[in-house]
Amino acid sequence: MEKKTLTIPYEEYSSIEELPSEDRALLEAAIDAMKGSYAPYSHFNVGAAVRLEDGTVVKGANQENAAYPSGLCAERTAMFAASSQYPKVPMEALAVVCARDGSLMINPGSPCGACRQVMSQYERLSRKPLRIILGSGGPILVFTGVESLMPFMFNDL
Ligand code: THU
Repeated sequence: MEKKTLTIPYEEYSSIEELPSEDRALLEAAIDAMKGSYAPYSHFNVGAAVRLEDGTVVKGANQENAAYPSGLCAERTAMFAASSQYPKVPMEALAVVCARDGSLMINPGSPCGACRQVMSQYERLSRKPLRIILGSGGPILVFTGVESLMPFMFNDL
């Protein structure tokens, strides 16, 4: 037996102003996407924006439902919309932000496991690492590839 340790590389930016311009634009698109959040149950608003290889940006926000499990996270709403509308265009980056009752959270939005799984599949289909930008009202974390967010991920492709 050998004990092993994983190291996860990521970048931390102190504010949106410090981000490279493409990341900043995508994070701003995610903030704008929050306008479409429908969260009457949790009052937790999440916005996501996917940038495709050709520069197209597709937005999504969380959608809740009286039958709770029928709702969907912002990240999957955005990725499914992107894949439905532009099935042949690889996904390059995804930005996520969150707010409670309209105020941006300090901690970065962190995608749930199901969203990470969906990211991993589109990343494989896109044949390039997905850049993941997690922010809100405080520090912003940037990951280069889903592997950093979900080591030992499942895939069957
Ligand atoms: N939510 C997201 O939109 N993304 C995540 O990664 C985690 C949670 C949403 C689902 C639900 O509408 C609300 O946040 C509270 O869980």
